[in-house]
Amino acid sequence: MNNTPIMKIEGLGISFGGLKAVDDVSFDVDRNQVKTVIGPNGAGKSTLFNLISGALRPRSGRVLIDGAVLNGKSAGQIKAHGLSRSFQITNLFFDLTVRENLRLAAQYLEPARHAWLPIKRSARAASKVDELLSRFILTVKADELAGSLSHGEQRRLEIAVCLASEPKVLLLDEPTQGMSHGDTEDTKELIRGLTDSVTVLLIEHDVGLVMDISDSIVVMHQGKKLAEGTPASVRQNADVQAAYFGSV
Ligand SMILES: Nc1ncnc2c1ncn2[C@@H]1O[C@H](COP(=O)(O)OP(=O)(O)O)[C@@H](O)[C@H]1O
Ligand SMILES: [Mg+2]
Repeated sequence: MNNTPIMKIEGLGISFGGLKAVDDVSFDVDRNQVKTVIGPNGAGKSTLFNLISGALRPRSGRVLIDGAVLNGKSAGQIKAHGLSRSFQITNLFFDLTVRENLRLAAQYLEPARHAWLPIKRSARAASKVDELLSRFILTVKADELAGSLSHGEQRRLEIAVCLASEPKVLLLDEPTQGMSHGDTEDTKELIRGLTDSVTVLLIEHDVGLVMDISDSIVVMHQGKKLAEGTPASVRQNADVQAAYFGSV
């Protein structure tokens, strides 16, 4: 067993004009766990994800995966280090089928010298697609257009697309946003089940779900890390209650 953290966030910060959207945030993410970032609207959660994934360049700090520094790397290099993310806004090809969306994402698994092969002959990618269709309960929808799926199915497909490149760390920004209660429950079970193969860093607003699913929680408030710990310890934290639970 490798007990060292898979990811380290060290002193990340960025300002927009005079606003410190993310202010000196540090934490570790342990392997095969669900770690969740919570905090009120505008706390800096999505900006933190943009800094971690390289979509934004931090003013200070760095991000490491298994000891490799991600700062300054291209999106492709960051993916090669094992980071994959979903967006708060959907990122699917609506005019392609469910299977085609997954195939495109899984094509990344094929060695570059196979890139010219017809997509049907990419064995590793094809078996990955079948595995994800089944795991995400999308097999019966495989040949439907992504644009014709229900909202809940689309969000499920997005997570599957993120996993198709077999990342080490998966960043999910509000995966249950806009979902029905039933879909939220299903998604909770799915995310929990992912930790056999991947580490999940989650942003989630549904506090009940967060408390059920998380091994560890980071609370953000006005760009800063306000608290970090197990669900029980975070819930009991007086600063957190005042800043967050008090207001919901
Ligand atoms: N690109 C940007 N330019 C200017 N301000 C931004 C930008 N992105 C986010 N912000 C501001 O940074 C703060 C944190 O936003 P965000 O990270 O989206 O919060 P959260 O995801 O926790 O709701 C907010 O005050 C937001 O208005
Ligand atoms: Mg956000």
